[in-house]
Amino acid sequence: MALVYLFPLLLHLLRPFPTVSAVGINYGTLGNNLPPPKTVAQLLQSTLIDKVKIYDTNPQILQAFSNSGIDIIVAVENNNVANISSTKSAAEDWFSARITPFIPATSIVTIAVGNEYLATGDDNMDPNALIQAMQNLHEVLLSRGLDRKIKISTPHSMAVLATSFPPSASTFATTLMPTMTAILTFLADTGSPFMVNAYPYFAYRDNPATVPLEYALLGNSSGVHDPKGYVYTNMLDAQIDAIRAAIVSLGFEGQSIHIMVSESGWPSKGEPDETTASPDNAKTYNTRLIAKAQSNKGTPMKPNEKIDIFLFALFNENKKQGGSSERNFGLFNGDGSKVYDVDLSCEFCSGSKMEFGFGPGSKMVQRGPSVWCVAKPHADEKLVQGVLDFCCGPGGVDCREIYENGACFGPNKVHAHASYAMNAYYQMHGRNYWNCDFKGSGLVTFSDPSYGTCKYSQQ
Ligand SMILES: *[C@@H]1O[C@H](CO)[C@@H](O)[C@H](O)[C@H]1NC(C)=O
Ligand SMILES: *[C@@H]1O[C@H](CO)[C@@H](O)[C@H](O)[C@H]1NC(C)=O
Repeated sequence: MALVYLFPLLLHLLRPFPTVSAVGINYGTLGNNLPPPKTVAQLLQSTLIDKVKIYDTNPQILQAFSNSGIDIIVAVENNNVANISSTKSAAEDWFSARITPFIPATSIVTIAVGNEYLATGDDNMDPNALIQAMQNLHEVLLSRGLDRKIKISTPHSMAVLATSFPPSASTFATTLMPTMTAILTFLADTGSPFMVNAYPYFAYRDNPATVPLEYALLGNSSGVHDPKGYVYTNMLDAQIDAIRAAIVSLGFEGQSIHIMVSESGWPSKGEPDETTASPDNAKTYNTRLIAKAQSNKGTPMKPNEKIDIFLFALFNENKKQGGSSERNFGLFNGDGSKVYDVDLSCEFCSGSKMEFGFGPGSKMVQRGPSVWCVAKPHADEKLVQGVLDFCCGPGGVDCREIYENGACFGPNKVHAHASYAMNAYYQMHGRNYWNCDFKGSGLVTFSDPSYGTCKYSQQ
């Protein structure tokens, strides 16, 4: 088997490459002028965006993103939460109807149960139903061996906090503490992220006198000092750490619950009094947000913990309710033109620096260059066997080629079979370096590991 491995040094150098980006975007569909999902999927594939969050389980969208290398977060709509919380079989029915038909071809990685459910102020939205729905869905995943592949969480608004300043003194609203404790226990037990929709824009709009614009715009402001010694140069970091402090205040200090920014953005237009809702400010904020999402930097409280970020939003949605700014958070108009210029080019996409757009001259490209994932030659055999079992089972890899009579059956060695399966998994999941980690047993290589009639897949 002619496998050529990268030297550790080269592997180390690989890490900061922008293909290792992790920029997500929210794809809302409350517009009557939006392009078909297939067009959206094809075009996103040529950008640095590798994760998409939707607000339902729209079957056309899930179909369109099959085999796209883009991970998807789907949602249970708020008005479906009660139903799913009612019985385990209601959750089974929902999952079978909405999710099963699309996996594993579509890489569904998270189910967001409700959206800002606890802040709706609607008495019909029982907080206990939320946690029960999350638990029921998790049971469904467990029974199908999918719990490692698909996570369950729920996006919160910043309104779940009683106070957010100073960040280190922040706590959840008293009435929500029992629910939050249950949710955090669930997230810690299942290794799922805490999702928060964080908008410095609204905080700035509502308090322009006390908040410097640069601070809200993710700029390098002179700094806000927290009594515990943390220095904040931008409000988004302060908001994230306010959530972190509230989590810690409920006793979840030791468990590492990852915080994900499930929405953040800046409108390009608003009501007449929303004077900072402008294309220039939106461009500045979103450009900096993308840079932040691609960096490995955390926040002052946890400088080394990378934050996953989902921009809000892909499109201006002309049918969205609320003030004018609500309909103007998009990077794109419905016809595919950019609302303002934001660079979404992916340096390591072949045909680099291509223009994202729907108009003439925009072309579709594959993500390149060619890279594969294989098992480290000296990785522990038991670990590698576990990885192989995972990939061919819950991981959803088609492993027929490494079974007897398959083109990759020989050599009949655990490492060889695992390499085939790990690579297939890696290619399926968008070639993010963490999809070739496998507890340290995977290795990214530039050499095609294919041999004879045994072909290793590539995107
Ligand atoms: C939940 O929704 C399903 C499908 O729409 C429906 O058949 C069922 O009766 C609902 N269950 C409850 C408890 O509302
Ligand atoms: C922000 O300002 C600080 C202090 O002036 C400086 O050290 C740092 O490099 C700046 N960061 C950025 C991203 O400009």
